[in-house]
Amino acid sequence: MLSLKKFKVMRGGKEIVKGIDCDFHRGQIHVILGANGSGKTTMANGMIGIYPSQGKVILDGVDISDFTIYNRAKMGLTIAFQEPARFEGLTVKDYLLISSKDKSIHDVESALKMVGLPKHILYQEMDESLSGGERKRVELAAVYLMKPKYAILDEPDSGIDVRSFRKIADIILALRDSGAGVILITHSQEMISLGDVATIMADGRIVGRGDPTEIRELFLNSPCPI
Ligand SMILES: Nc1ncnc2c1ncn2[C@@H]1O[C@H](COP(=O)(O)OP(=O)(O)OP(=O)(O)O)[C@@H](O)[C@H]1O
Ligand SMILES: [Mg+2]
Repeated sequence: MLSLKKFKVMRGGKEIVKGIDCDFHRGQIHVILGANGSGKTTMANGMIGIYPSQGKVILDGVDISDFTIYNRAKMGLTIAFQEPARFEGLTVKDYLLISSKDKSIHDVESALKMVGLPKHILYQEMDESLSGGERKRVELAAVYLMKPKYAILDEPDSGIDVRSFRKIADIILALRDSGAGVILITHSQEMISLGDVATIMADGRIVGRGDPTEIRELFLNSPCPI
């Protein structure tokens, strides 16, 4: 289990994530809903150690609150960013091989196929020569190849053409079926339906938790700021 306890994140001198208590389980997709600006990405970046935080992050019984990003990744916690980074001079092939737990080119090629990208992309660089949607897919393939215990996916479907929804959904389900706990931040109604459980964030706090269909209705029918 991955647990947040009284988890807070400050940005620009302001408390953005205001004390979250939440458990995420392996083998489950936990959907996080919330309006723009409610603090979802800030929470995600705090969880993996990119932003400093207060409170605790406990991964399978180990307090990783003071761990570096690298050591959190070694413990099995990873993220696919809402805005994937660009790495000039690094090919997609090398990026995926570095990410891959087993360092197998065969696995890299099959992950690329799972996210619906052609093989020639392997020889492109991880810079602006890739489209936004292509970068999102490469990032998702990288997360899959890491074989994480817990994977945070920050809007994995944003910028992905609607015909490819099924492919993205299938790799998320494959991650879950491999035993990973998937924390799925999304605005998409179809993505919500993949969830085993869902949580609503509003103004840096959790304001609802339960069955994804019911939580989606609660979110859709709630007045702002929820
Ligand atoms: N460095 C910063 N200084 C001040 N405010 C910040 C800073 N970083 C983020 N914020 C604010 O924190 C709030 C939460 O931002 P965050 O990116 O976490 O939202 P989100 O829930 O992921 O939204 P979206 O659905 O649009 O991706 C926003 O109001 C944002 O302006
Ligand atoms: Mg966000």
